[in-house]
Amino acid sequence: MATDGLFGEDLVSPDVTAQLPEGYRIRSLRSTDFATGFLDCLRVLTTVGDITEAAFVERYEYFAKQSGTYFVLVIEDAAGKVVGTGALVVERKFIHNLGIVGHIEDIAVAKDQQGKKLGLRIIQALDFIAEKVGCYKTILDCSEANEGFYVKCGFRRAGLEMAHYY
Ligand code: ACO
Repeated sequence: MATDGLFGEDLVSPDVTAQLPEGYRIRSLRSTDFATGFLDCLRVLTTVGDITEAAFVERYEYFAKQSGTYFVLVIEDAAGKVVGTGALVVERKFIHNLGIVGHIEDIAVAKDQQGKKLGLRIIQALDFIAEKVGCYKTILDCSEANEGFYVKCGFRRAGLEMAHYY
């Protein structure tokens, strides 16, 4: 079982690392993060469900096989507990001269850790990856309630989300 993460240290922003609170660390998701509070962290965002460790590892391995597509970051506190997470999904297109677009997904900071700039650091770290892998833009969907957060992170409103549920 691979434990060193979905992607290399070279994609972890040194500036973000330097700006984290003392003892905190930002790194790639690992297959062992079932045990470090990653799923609980995501529960501040939405329903996660009752996922077994085997199912978690299977999904992780799937991500790992889609080379250059899934970049899931976590911030751990000084005790090694995951207190923040976010993902960049990289989409390769034919249009815009084989353009590459980053999609920011599933940003979550543990309730008791909100307001310490961890959310901002996650977005900055995902932006760093997006630029490094060649994205010409990064887009995301969010609620009106979170618009101010993303504006502070340098995003602006563009377009309209539509959904078709199955
Ligand atoms: N509206 C307006 N401004 C905000 C909001 C908000 N909802 N949340 C934070 N900010 C501001 C902060 O005040 C701060 O401003 P400042 O620089 O003037 O001090 C700045 O944005 C950065 O805030 P952080 O401290 O980095 O925010 P935090 O670590 O609390 O993370 C987050 C913000 C991720 C939205 C967090 O509150 C959270 O996990 N919420 C629940 C899950 C969620 O809604 N996730 C986003 C879903 S959208 C998606 O995933 C694409």
